[in-house]
Amino acid sequence: MIAIIGAGNVGRALGNAWARTHDVSYGVRTPDDDKYADLGPAVTTNARAVEQADVVALCTPWQATRRAILDCGDLTGKVLIDCTNPLTPDFSGLEVGHDTSGAELVAQWAPGALVCKAMNQIGAPMMDHPPVPSVPVMFICGDDAAAKRRTGDLVGDWVFGQSISANSHWRGYWSRMPCCGSIWHCVAGWDRRLRSGC
Ligand SMILES: NC(=O)c1ccc[n+]([C@@H]2O[C@H](COP(=O)([O-])OP(=O)(O)OC[C@H]3O[C@@H](n4cnc5c(N)ncnc54)[C@H](OP(=O)(O)O)[C@@H]3O)[C@@H](O)[C@H]2O)c1
Repeated sequence: MIAIIGAGNVGRALGNAWARTHDVSYGVRTPDDDKYADLGPAVTTNARAVEQADVVALCTPWQATRRAILDCGDLTGKVLIDCTNPLTPDFSGLEVGHDTSGAELVAQWAPGALVCKAMNQIGAPMMDHPPVPSVPVMFICGDDAAAKRRTGDLVGDWVFGQSISANSHWRGYWSRMPCCGSIWHCVAGWDRRLRSGC
């Protein structure tokens, strides 16, 4: 079971893709809001969404992320795919990423969770079968090898056939990836693995 926290652009793109092959639940602040009617009974609170999930995908605005994690409750042992970018509210820059990173803060806020940074480097419309001429790569970062494999399998489920993974000391670089999104397009199809930290 995969719990998606936040049902906006990213949450819906990932939820639609994963729902083809997995059970998906959505955690939101106001499950009864009409704007979630199209998602049906899969929409609930954060705490209930994560109850049965072994994988949780964080798809919230950076400023809401700490609260969203707290509302999930205990995430110990769950793979926590952090799709957020620590952008300022006006998207003009990064709130963190120079001496720490969003994923490292997420790991502090969710002690015991197996945090993997992924899916933050591409736009939501490109997340499900992006129209590129070759098999694209996805960058994945985290400390736990099994969690990175699980995340790689999940993003590979539908299209990202190759993933490049690294240990957490790369996280600061990963946080900056959205600032140079065009790099993703340049490396699409490049299936080499980074030698360090794979
Ligand atoms: N958009 C992209 O192309 C893209 C690509 C890669 C990464 N990202 C990153 O992904 C994250 C989400 O982006 P987005 O474009 O999907 O944002 P969005 O469309 O604004 O959606 C964010 C969702 O999070 C929900 N939310 C807010 N507080 C919450 C909480 N405490 N618990 C549960 N849900 C909560 C919001 O619901 P309500 O406010 O209605 O309650 C909203 O549905 C951001 O960190 C962004 O930087 C975005």
